Amino acid sequence: MGPLNLPRKISVLGSTGSVGVSTLDVLDKAGVEVEIAALVAGRNVEVLAEQAHKWRPALAVIEDERKLPELRERLAGTGIAVGGGPSAVLEAARADAQWVMSAIVGFAGLAPTLAAARTGAVIALANKESLICAGPALLRTAKLAGGAVIPVDSEHSAIFQVFSPANAGQVSRLILTASGGPFRQWTGEQMARATPDQALAHPNWSMGAKISIDSATMMNKGLEVIEAAYLFAMPPERIEVLVHPQSIVHSLVEYADGSTLAQLGPPDMRTPIACAFAWPDRLPWPAERLDLARSGPLTFEEPDLERFPALRLAKQALAAGGAAPAALNAADEAAVAAFLSGRMGFLDIARVVEGVLAAMAGRSFGSDDGDILAAAAEADATARRLADDVIGALMARV
Ligand SMILES: NC(=O)c1ccc[n+]([C@@H]2O[C@H](COP(=O)([O-])OP(=O)(O)OC[C@H]3O[C@@H](n4cnc5c(N)ncnc54)[C@H](OP(=O)(O)O)[C@@H]3O)[C@@H](O)[C@H]2O)c1
Repeated sequence: MGPLNLPRKISVLGSTGSVGVSTLDVLDKAGVEVEIAALVAGRNVEVLAEQAHKWRPALAVIEDERKLPELRERLAGTGIAVGGGPSAVLEAARADAQWVMSAIVGFAGLAPTLAAARTGAVIALANKESLICAGPALLRTAKLAGGAVIPVDSEHSAIFQVFSPANAGQVSRLILTASGGPFRQWTGEQMARATPDQALAHPNWSMGAKISIDSATMMNKGLEVIEAAYLFAMPPERIEVLVHPQSIVHSLVEYADGSTLAQLGPPDMRTPIACAFAWPDRLPWPAERLDLARSGPLTFEEPDLERFPALRLAKQALAAGGAAPAALNAADEAAVAAFLSGRMGFLDIARVVEGVLAAMAGRSFGSDDGDILAAAAEADATARRLADDVIGALMARV
């Protein structure tokens, strides 16, 4: 094997989260030599400081400014520059890096991801909300700056690996696989009583809280349909969802001649992260290997749109276009937070999203070519306000 052409200077936005920690773990296990321009965390100053001691970034940033004095104290004498607050997060995103892992969770990841894209760095995109809220703008920005966006979501990484842009017109379907989440076999009545702990217990993947709840409602798959439509410029009617409880086939691309290509692997985010890091090369690291003889049967089934209405709501927002997906995302973020804090039930998450989309129906969401960022910010703020009203009304029921 010849020498690999790997990025030397990198940043990790959201380094203390599930994807951020996995990113540093892959680099560690692969033994690659990288210079870290910036590490960014939200509130977890302890883990950020530990990472900074080990990885020696030029800059370490904590978004929660109240934690800045503690970060400064923990990194005193190291020579590592520290920063706090949203403007410092943007400064870190703009730091001189060839490769940036975008792994902040939620709408909060959009501005830093765009800032990083403007530098022309390769963006390894885990923060799916950036694409949901401003997909066309983000992809255009990266392209104009001479960079690229490489998906990290395992399904999109799978498609990316078997999708040939030169043959995009000959693709007949993208098929996104979904584990079905912890409630795949639960009845509607059981789901109505589901607790946050039960919803957080994903059968195959260990992930942050927001995406775990989104997997339980299948809103995550809905968001991924939107993500795929933007990333691969595919009309929504050619994107399908297939439930595959073992999470081994990560997604499939069907071509016009009836040939279907898939990417397989054990459910471990470190593989798509390694792929995004080395692409188009392949990073040798001690990944668990797929052993199909021992993995047991692989099964597939149609998603149940009655019990998982989030899938339909996401497609509805995608069809509305412009900033409608940003409104969907904001309503979902607010609803997930309300469920996790015990303010409402599990099935209320989709009710809140549906209520917000209904309240916003008929509004103009702008177009994909207009000022999508301003439209996304406005749709986000309006949807959060409306979500608070719907959550309040749901809570007043009892
Ligand atoms: N986990 C997965 O397997 C997976 C798979 C596919 C896609 N994704 C996507 O990847 C993203 C990250 O997911 P995750 O599961 O890693 O989430 P997570 O474990 O909750 O981590 C989120 C990260 O973002 C940081 N953060 C939160 N708010 C922030 C803010 N306002 N400014 C700066 N940093 C902030 C957190 O910092 P603190 O912890 O320090 O507060 C943490 O480092 C999400 O968009 C998710 O949909 C995740």
